[in-house]
Amino acid sequence: MVPAQAIYAAVPISVLIAIGFIRKWRSRKWGKCLTDTCLRGKTYLITGANSGIGLETAKALVRRKARVIFACRDIAKAKQAISEIRKEQPTGGEMIPMQLDLSSFESIESFVDVIKTGFHKIDVLINNAGVVVPLKCDEKTKEGFEIHLGVNHLGHFYLTNLLLDQLKRAAPSRIVVVSSTLHEMAKIDFNDLNLRGEIEKAKKGQVKARHNLGYSNSKLMNVYFARALADKLRDTGVDVYTCCPGFCYTNLFRFSVKWYHYLIMLPVALMYMKSAKQGSETIVYCATDYGIEGQTGKFYRDCVEYDSKYPFKKEEEIKLWNISEELVKARKPL
Ligand SMILES: NC(=O)c1ccc[n+]([C@@H]2O[C@H](COP(=O)([O-])OP(=O)(O)OC[C@H]3O[C@@H](n4cnc5c(N)ncnc54)[C@H](OP(=O)(O)O)[C@@H]3O)[C@@H](O)[C@H]2O)c1
Ligand SMILES: *[C@@H]1O[C@H](CO)[C@@H](O)[C@H](O)[C@H]1NC(C)=O
Repeated sequence: MVPAQAIYAAVPISVLIAIGFIRKWRSRKWGKCLTDTCLRGKTYLITGANSGIGLETAKALVRRKARVIFACRDIAKAKQAISEIRKEQPTGGEMIPMQLDLSSFESIESFVDVIKTGFHKIDVLINNAGVVVPLKCDEKTKEGFEIHLGVNHLGHFYLTNLLLDQLKRAAPSRIVVVSSTLHEMAKIDFNDLNLRGEIEKAKKGQVKARHNLGYSNSKLMNVYFARALADKLRDTGVDVYTCCPGFCYTNLFRFSVKWYHYLIMLPVALMYMKSAKQGSETIVYCATDYGIEGQTGKFYRDCVEYDSKYPFKKEEEIKLWNISEELVKARKPL
């Protein structure tokens, strides 16, 4: 006869095995970048390359012998990441740590100055850095912009525009904008881009903390920016791709998702959550795959084109571009 304990143990074990199989089966659809071309001689610039998906993207490019600039807010973290990758890959491409704080226009400008003196061309720019901060914290950038608007959108908007000459010189070259399918939940109010209304409500506990409108709005701005830029850069040989890495286990949700959430959600997380490396595949695909050359303006997820459910409007796109330009010029919320 089978002892009762064995049956008690068999239940969780078989559940885990089942989850393992489901995860394996699901992960076949997560997509992989199959191109493995040598990237020697090409310069890649990644924002936020010290952590999560950006770090894994950097590793994949270094493995292909690219030169990779780690544009990080904390230079010590950039150097740390580089020395770890070097240990893993002694023969990989060159890695260069550089300081860039996207929450400060001054930092962006001095970063670009250094790039311009040191690098004649940039082959691929990967706008990967991003933050998620609970709205009730009311965090702002140096210039006083709401943190998601300022770092995720405006900082990259400004940086990219300042680097266009470098990118054009490298044509055929690319800009990869890391967005998220959460952009489909966005609601941009042009009269309140800094979300004053929403933040005041959040402080009083009147909005669901689970859905961060600042984050999803900034991810929609990323998509609009990429679409507008793709149009502006047509015929320059600079392609612009947007992508969603998928739901990944990284540092991104450190303020909003607690460890016990993961515990409660463990079965769901195990089935749906990618590793940072699995998440980086679509970015590496957009940054390196020759098969998509010329497909500028498109959105990718799981290494295939993705049809967004968001009802994009050309007018909204142009309006956002115009306002972003004004805000960068004004250097303060209007
Ligand atoms: N994880 C997901 O499930 C998921 C899903 C969809 C989209 N994404 C997108 O993927 C991208 C990467 O996120 P991740 O998940 O890899 O998160 P992460 O591990 O938190 O990495 C974010 C990176 O951005 C950097 N960063 C933050 N603020 C910055 C600033 N002001 N200036 C310069 N760099 C700054 C961080 O630097 P520090 O290390 O110094 O903080 C870090 O290197 C983001 O754009 C995110 O929106 C993630
Ligand atoms: C955007 O700016 C351009 C050039 O300044 C202007 O012609 C156009 O009317 C503006 N469009 C919108 C929707 O604000």
